[in-house]
Amino acid sequence: MVREAFWDVYKPGCDEHLIIHKLRDSAAFIKGLDFVACDSNRIVGAVICPKAKIEDEKSQEFTVLSLIVAVLPSYQKRGIGSRLVKRAMDDARSLGFKGIVIFGSPEYYLRFGFMNAKEYGIQTSEGENFDAFMALQLSEHSLDRIRGRFYEDDAYHPGKDELEAFEKGFPYKEKHVTDTQLKM
Ligand SMILES: CC(C)(COP(=O)(O)OP(=O)(O)OC[C@H]1O[C@@H](n2cnc3c(N)ncnc32)[C@H](O)[C@@H]1OP(=O)(O)O)[C@@H](O)C(=O)NCCC(=O)NCCS
Repeated sequence: MVREAFWDVYKPGCDEHLIIHKLRDSAAFIKGLDFVACDSNRIVGAVICPKAKIEDEKSQEFTVLSLIVAVLPSYQKRGIGSRLVKRAMDDARSLGFKGIVIFGSPEYYLRFGFMNAKEYGIQTSEGENFDAFMALQLSEHSLDRIRGRFYEDDAYHPGKDELEAFEKGFPYKEKHVTDTQLKM
């Protein structure tokens, strides 16, 4: 389902299905922040919020979350993605997490309260800021003392060979260059 949702959206093919597969075996995985949406017995959407870290100039580390959400293309634009993101936000807040940091489409994530991460003094691991790099504070002032560079779990960076091997477990799917990739 994740492969179907991400295929050709951000690059020809995708690797998010492997990333999620690896996250579930990683120390970053949080069982209570991994949901699926179902239509009868078919999985049509999923959200996962693994742990990530922010490291400040003094090498002090703070735990935050990252987030991946996916909805099967034929089920998109019916509010399923929003319900999954809101549920993940609510449960993350209940579990005491302070914030969620993501790379994504501002048009989609601003509606949930995400802001440019620059507003919180959070930069990418390369020390950069741009519109698609966003952060959400899960409770009032919860990100006030968290400043620095953002690092996702290593599972977010699978190797080319690893992806090729993982892809062999799925039916062949042709890769294309699409308009959605050119917008990135
Ligand atoms: C992003 C995604 C999860 C949204 O799921 P969904 O169930 O369609 O979401 P909702 O129905 O709650 O919201 C749909 C709205 O989001 C908008 N939207 C969806 N993807 C968007 C994107 N990449 N950029 C901007 N807006 C987007 C739709 O245009 C629609 O807008 P509207 O409410 O004004 O009509 C789904 O499009 C998807 O799986 N995309 C591929 C994977 C992906 O990009 N995941 C997010 C990155 S982690």
